[in-house]
Amino acid sequence: MSKKVSKIAILTSGGDAPGMNATIRAVVRTGVYLGLEVYGIMRGYSGMMEDDIFPMGSKTVANIIQRGGTILKSARCREFYTEEGRAQAYANLKKRGIDGLVVIGGDGSFTGAMKLQNEFGLPVIGLPGTIDKDLYGTDFTIGFDTACNTAVQAIDKIRDTADAHDRLFIVEVMGRHAGYIALHSGIATGAETILIPEAATNIEDVIASLSEKEKRKKLVNIIVVAEGDAFGGANEVAKIVRERLPNFDTKVSILGHIQRGGSPTCIDRLVASRMGYHAVEALIAGKSNVMVGIINNEIVYTPLEVAIREKDSIDENWLRIVKILAS
Ligand code: ADP
Ligand code: F6P
Repeated sequence: MSKKVSKIAILTSGGDAPGMNATIRAVVRTGVYLGLEVYGIMRGYSGMMEDDIFPMGSKTVANIIQRGGTILKSARCREFYTEEGRAQAYANLKKRGIDGLVVIGGDGSFTGAMKLQNEFGLPVIGLPGTIDKDLYGTDFTIGFDTACNTAVQAIDKIRDTADAHDRLFIVEVMGRHAGYIALHSGIATGAETILIPEAATNIEDVIASLSEKEKRKKLVNIIVVAEGDAFGGANEVAKIVRERLPNFDTKVSILGHIQRGGSPTCIDRLVASRMGYHAVEALIAGKSNVMVGIINNEIVYTPLEVAIREKDSIDENWLRIVKILAS
């Protein structure tokens, strides 16, 4: 039988994502409602090491559900990669009697959490907070929907000016190792082609398709590229297109960090609230070393190790749909 938790802590770590605040709110309010003491840790593992830890009550999370960023701030902490660093960090939890931890972050943050569990026996629950949707074991990650909507709004605007000047825009969206933002925003904006790290792209096919459409006077405005695609992002793709098709007026637009900010969408607030609630329930039920995910609208617990290691494959039908709908 696992020991019953009584004091839990929460932190946000790695790249921030819209909906992290809604998640913090859900964890704090559920914890307090169920009779736990809840602590917030500032700046991820950095705050844990520096003892920047404070008690949180229901009122401390008022009026944040709609805010982007994270009131707990996020950071990347080099010292936490070392065993001594983690021991120092854990000592700050231990002295307060903290016996459960909720980590909102991506695969790096989960790796740190697993080490805390394995080295000190601290029960940890991971919540997938990343716009990239690059974790296995969930249909949604906190922030992904907002990032896609931000990209869609931006690309729609780019299309207006592209159309006015008959220009081809190569738009780069985030996703160092994952093409989900590119895929979703590209389909939703009617992109000609979507280039993602998960699928091999034959540049000859892209060039051939652009030339063929030019011949039949079909306007082609938008190509969406994930930053981690095989060519190395939009600028590299544009170089090839300009060389091969000099008659195209080709522009590049890199959307960048606007995708990480902003008020979370309704979907992200729901996902955040539901996952935050289940993280606390999971700790109380004695679960540890798992990520809370949602698959087919059911809550699913995936070992952190699996959530990090395994990769969801992108259904090839999606790319076929892109091709057909852009024809
Ligand atoms: P993300 O969680 O978004 O993937 P990072 O990869 O930057 O972000 O990881 C966030 C933090 O998690 C790191 O700065 C570090 O403190 C901790 N972390 C990442 N990987 C490890 C690891 N292998 N061992 C211990 N801590 C780690
Ligand atoms: O949050 C994930 C992500 O947005 C990646 O797609 C991107 O490459 C990275 O974070 C950039 O993060 P930072 O600027 O914080 O290093």
